[in-house]
Formats: sequence, C-alpha cells, structure tokens
Amino acid sequence: MEISLRGKTAIVTGASRGIGKAIAKSFVDAGAQVMLTSRKIDALQAAAKELDGETAVFAANAGDIDQAHECVDATMKRFGKIDILVNNAATNPYYGATLGVDSAQFDKTFQVNLKGPLFWSQAVFNASMQKNPGVILNIASVGGLRAEQGLGVYNLTKAAVIHLTSQLACELGRTRVVGIAPGLVKTLFASVLIENVGERLAAALPTKRLGEPQDIANLALFLCSDLASWITGETYVIDGGAGVRSGTM
Ligand SMILES: NC(=O)c1ccc[n+]([C@@H]2O[C@H](COP(=O)([O-])OP(=O)(O)OC[C@H]3O[C@@H](n4cnc5c(N)ncnc54)[C@H](OP(=O)(O)O)[C@@H]3O)[C@@H](O)[C@H]2O)c1
Repeated sequence: MEISLRGKTAIVTGASRGIGKAIAKSFVDAGAQVMLTSRKIDALQAAAKELDGETAVFAANAGDIDQAHECVDATMKRFGKIDILVNNAATNPYYGATLGVDSAQFDKTFQVNLKGPLFWSQAVFNASMQKNPGVILNIASVGGLRAEQGLGVYNLTKAAVIHLTSQLACELGRTRVVGIAPGLVKTLFASVLIENVGERLAAALPTKRLGEPQDIANLALFLCSDLASWITGETYVIDGGAGVRSGTM
C-alpha cells in the first residue's frame, strides 16, 4: 500500500541532515509540501536541492521562540496551512555524569530539546492546527525511557518530550500528537558512539544492524499519514530490537 501525504504541508526541524532530512524526503516523495528548517541556510539549501518536490527552507534555531514564529509565519505565507510539524532538532552539549552538568549546559539542552518542541507546537497550533487539525510528531529517544551512563541530562529532556507528547495529545483534541523513540541510528549526532562501539552494538541486536535514518522516516511517514488517524499520545520505540536483547536466546 502506498502512503500518501498529497495536499499536506509539513515543517520539519533539523531537516538539513540525518533523521530530519530522511523524514523530509519521505514526506516530499509522498506528495507533501515541506518547509525544511535548521540553523545553517547553506546546508538546508543543499538538502532541499536533493528533494524532488515542492520545498522551502528557513534558517532558525529550534530553541529560539522568535525564530520559530518567523518560520511558522513564512510557512503560512508560502503554503497557506501547516498539517504536520516534526519536532526533530535536538542538541547534546554535555556528555558525563548527570550531577556534573553546569547550568549553561543544562539550559542549552532543555532550551533546544524541550522548550523548542513545546513552543514550535504552540506556534503551529495557533497559526493553523487550531482551525485545521493536524499532526505533531516529536522525535524523542530510547534514552528517555531507560537510564544510561553519560547521556543523563540529554535523556531527561527526551523523557520530558515523551510526556509532552501525551500531555499535548490530551489537550489538543483532533490534532494528533505522536512520538518516536529511536535507538542508535547512523547519523553525525551519534558518530562518536558508532565509531567506538557501533559494530559491537549492532552484533548484539536481533536485527544485526544499527538504524538508518530511513528506518525512522518510514515510521514517521506512517504516523503522520491518515492511516494512523486513531493513534495519538503514544511514543513508539524503534531500536532494532535492543529492548529485547537481554533474553536467553
Ligand atoms: N542518531 C541517533 O542515534 C539518535 C537516537 C535517538 C534519538 N535521536 C534524535 O533524532 C533527532 C535527529 O538527530 P540526528 O541523529 O538526525 O542528528 P544530526 O544528523 O546531527 O542532525 C541534526 C539536525 O538538527 C539540526 N540542529 C541541531 N541543532 C539545532 C538547533 N539548535 N536548532 C535547529 N536545528 C538544529 C542540524 O542542523 P544545523 O546544525 O545546521 O542546525 C541537523 O539538521 C534528534 O532529536 C535526536 O535527539 C537520534
């Protein structure tokens, strides 16, 4: 079955590379008009050039509320409505023990990873979805569900994003709010981990490989399509089976 987003308009944050770019491509291939946004205009233009469909680009920091409004205004001006918002951009400026974080690192992580999704959702809901219900997709992480060494502060933001997803679903009526919690996916974001222990982690998975951005984009396309019209408030783990690997087989 072909999944169609024909006639839909989407904003994807963090769309210049990695998971966001793969989601933007899947949406365009399914017929959507897509506004790609992240911080660097050159990278956005290069990403948009690779896509075969109707796109626009807007440079904005996901943690800056004014820039979120500017991007939403530009999208409304260009496309007239916003059916889908993908809150994908995130940052991780600190690696280490949770109690070792300093105030600036903590604030930056929460600014981009939690305040961003909340205020981009607010801007899009007020501008378009309040009148024409749509879909908000938040990209969380399996780290938001399980404790692990080194990523404690980042994981706190992702746990909050998972709760934000169910909270907004509870409040926004016919606008659906859904989440994806990926395991390790081959992107720049995870490159240090992948270089150091990627092969070992892949071998331990039932699926015997790490995730590709396209794996996440496939689920994003389904969740944002009308095929998922009875799904809201939930966050879906997609991790190659990492969550079941402690069995005896
Ligand atoms: N890769 C994994 O293993 C993994 C696992 C679980 C969850 N995730 C989540 O998946 C999402 C995408 O990550 P990824 O792996 O695709 O990362 P990535 O390849 O590093 O891409 C990140 C994207 O976000 C943009 N970005 C970064 N900081 C930004 C900011 N402050 N404002 C606006 N845009 C910003 C980047 O462009 P600019 O730098 O030009 O702004 C880029 O387009 C994130 O939410 C991440 O937490 C990833």
